[in-house]
Amino acid sequence: MIGLFDSGIGGLTVVRELLRQAPDASFVYLGDTARTPYGNKSPETVIRYALEDAEFLLKHGATSIVIACNSASAVATEALRRAHLSIPIFEVITPAVEAVCRLNVGRVGVIGTRATIASRAYESRLRERGIEVIAKACPLFVPLVEEGWLTDVETKRIVKHYLSSIRQAQVDAMILGCTHYPLLSEIIQRFMGKQVRLIDSGAMVVGELLRHVSQDGARSQRFFLTDLSARSEEIAAQWLARPVHFEKADI
Ligand code: DGL
Repeated sequence: MIGLFDSGIGGLTVVRELLRQAPDASFVYLGDTARTPYGNKSPETVIRYALEDAEFLLKHGATSIVIACNSASAVATEALRRAHLSIPIFEVITPAVEAVCRLNVGRVGVIGTRATIASRAYESRLRERGIEVIAKACPLFVPLVEEGWLTDVETKRIVKHYLSSIRQAQVDAMILGCTHYPLLSEIIQRFMGKQVRLIDSGAMVVGELLRHVSQDGARSQRFFLTDLSARSEEIAAQWLARPVHFEKADI
């Protein structure tokens, strides 16, 4: 059984891709909505939360873990791997970097939370591969997504505020380095122009995941949140194009 976690509903962008490629996959999803966002918190705090999230998933039958959150992938992957030596742990940054390298492009934008951008996890790996990087933290995007403000005029204004410098730099591609951001991809794409390839960091990990984990046992698909709200079920149902029932997680 695959365990996935994020600070909130953003990791559902990974679940969507998982369901597209393997509709009968068994998984347990945890969104830590009670403590979201992670991206504005210190690495120590994000590591502590990530360890607790993984513990919860393992207690609920997970035999592999997907860190469906860039912020936690950037700062907590090592700690998680050290704490769970026998469990395969997948992070979302390396597959996104590899996807960009396959595009053979020269200049790339990277957007993410403050934690992800400050870690320079994308920047340093892309620069090592000879790619020019323009990175930008977009801390207001996560609360906008959690609120379901996906196409509002205020959201468009904030997109313009954050992304103008990257647009001016005329990048060839841009990494959506936060699993919440694909929910805003429509307005981001419109603002950046259709010549800019958007890379969904969450979606890229699924191919690697399915190559490494085998699925056995009866199909089970459970969704947990640490704080329940009707709004989350609405957004999740819209995003996954099916009804989603969230159970309350106590961690
Ligand atoms: N979806 C997350 C990420 O990919 C978490 C964002 C946050 O909680 O700040 O970084």
